This record gives sequence, structure tokens and C-alpha cells, in this order.
Amino acid sequence: MKLSGARVLVAGATGVLGGAIVTELADRGARVALAGRDPSRLAQAASAYAHAPTARFDAYDPESCARAVRETSVALGGLDAVVVAFGAVAFGAVEDVGDEVAEHLMAVNYLAPAAFFRAALDTLGPGSAIAAVTGVVAERAQPGMADYSASKAALRSWLDAVRRERRSTGVRVLEIRPGHLDTGFAQRPVAGTAPPLPKGGDPHEVAAAVAEALAADAELLRTRPDATPVVERRAR
Ligand SMILES: NC(=O)c1ccc[n+]([C@@H]2O[C@H](COP(=O)([O-])OP(=O)(O)OC[C@H]3O[C@@H](n4cnc5c(N)ncnc54)[C@H](OP(=O)(O)O)[C@@H]3O)[C@@H](O)[C@H]2O)c1
Repeated sequence: MKLSGARVLVAGATGVLGGAIVTELADRGARVALAGRDPSRLAQAASAYAHAPTARFDAYDPESCARAVRETSVALGGLDAVVVAFGAVAFGAVEDVGDEVAEHLMAVNYLAPAAFFRAALDTLGPGSAIAAVTGVVAERAQPGMADYSASKAALRSWLDAVRRERRSTGVRVLEIRPGHLDTGFAQRPVAGTAPPLPKGGDPHEVAAAVAEALAADAELLRTRPDATPVVERRAR
């Protein structure tokens, strides 16, 4: 995909990684639209991008996700890519986390991204892309993070199936699967407390790699054990 002039919706633009992705894409000439939950944080995030459309959504409300796609698509005269960078985490043994939190994580981390993409896939044409942040837990589930790992594995699996469904249409599916990043995400869980974590990777490096992956029509972005990003043309 040619990023210069591309119309890209970033959902979760108020987050650290989402905000860095917006900056990286805008710096490369993309026309960005920002979606987020909190109105004042969303206005703050958008303030650096004159005329960038914004849309509010709550990941707990799938119709608001579809609406954000429709509104920003109208505002930009169509979309070339939708990047989902929001998410929620909880920590603790499964019996402590409980059903309600598990349901929350599945809604935010799997069902809401799927709602964004379902709405987008109605309109995206050849050469366009959808992209979502999963995480290394999608391939290696972690103790104390069972429901978070399961929700990200569900999203990974959904993306894999959609990639194969859409291959002949020219719509690309990019999975962004980083290891731990220094964004403070682990310090903002919906339940529990993060275990001691090693120093994480740099979200700005991952954001730059997201832009490169979109430009290269790549299918997977992962990080090495030393946290440096790797873009892979084909997902495995
Ligand atoms: N940081 C890591 O170590 C790491 C590693 C691998 C993958 N990831 C993934 O990276 C993504 C971005 O996280 P981050 O590290 O940038 O953390 P972050 O700064 O805390 O960003 C999280 C984002 O998710 C949004 N969000 C949470 N619940 C929501 C809801 N119900 N409705 C709408 N938006 C909601 C937050 O919105 P508000 O601004 O309204 O709170 C925020 O924009 C997540 O999917 C996370 O799972 C993170």
C-alpha cells in the first residue's frame, strides 16, 4: 500500500501504541482518522492533526465500532486501511479473574476488533488492509493471563481465517504481535496486578514497523526476544 495519501482509521488512537501509529502514518503522508473511547483524550490525540476526523466508540458496544468506521469513511471519502490498536488486560489466576472479567476481555480484545473489520470489509477494495494488535500471548499463553491470552489468540485465529477468505480480493490482513512494550499498559489492568516485568520494547519502534508492514503489504509483525520488531511478508 502506498502510505502517502492513504486514508487510515486508527481505533485506539488515545493509547500509547495507537497514538504512535497515528504519528508514524501521518508523518509518512497518510490521511488519518482517529477513534477512541474518551472524548477529551480523543480531542487531545487529534489536536496535532488538522482536519483529521474523529469518532467515538466503546469496545463494549459493537454498533459503536461499526459506526466509527462508517463516520470516518464518509469524512475521508473512503478508507484504505483500518488499524485496531486498543485492548484491555487482566492479571491473576483463573479463579480470581472470574467470568465477568473474562467476558470483558473477550468483548474488547476479540469481538470489538471483529466488529470494526466486519464494517470495514464491506467497503475496502483491492490494495487496502486491516491490521490489529494481538501480542505474543496469542502464540504463547501465559500463566496469570489466561483470559487475556485466550482473547488475543481468538483475534489471531479470526485474522488468519479472514486473511484466507480475502486473499483473492486483494485486501491484506496484518497481525501486529509484539512482546511486552513500555507503554504502561500492564499498569492499567481491568483486574489484578501485573507480575514483575522485564523492560519492554519501544512502542515507537513498533509503530514505525507497523507503517513499514502496511507499506510492504506484509502479514505479520512480531518482535524478537531483544524486543526489536521484525516484519514478515507471510504470516506463519
Ligand atoms: N504494552 C504491551 O506490553 C503490549 C504488548 C503486546 C500487545 N499489546 C496490545 O497493544 C494494544 C495497545 O495497548 P498499549 O500498550 O498502547 O496500552 P494503552 O496505552 O493502555 O492503550 C490501550 C488503549 O485501549 C483503549 N481501550 C481500552 N478499553 C477500551 C474500551 N472498552 N473501549 C474503547 N477503547 C478501549 C484505551 O482507551 P482509553 O484511552 O479510553 O483508556 C487505549 O486507547 C492493546 O491491544 C494491547 O493488548 C500491548
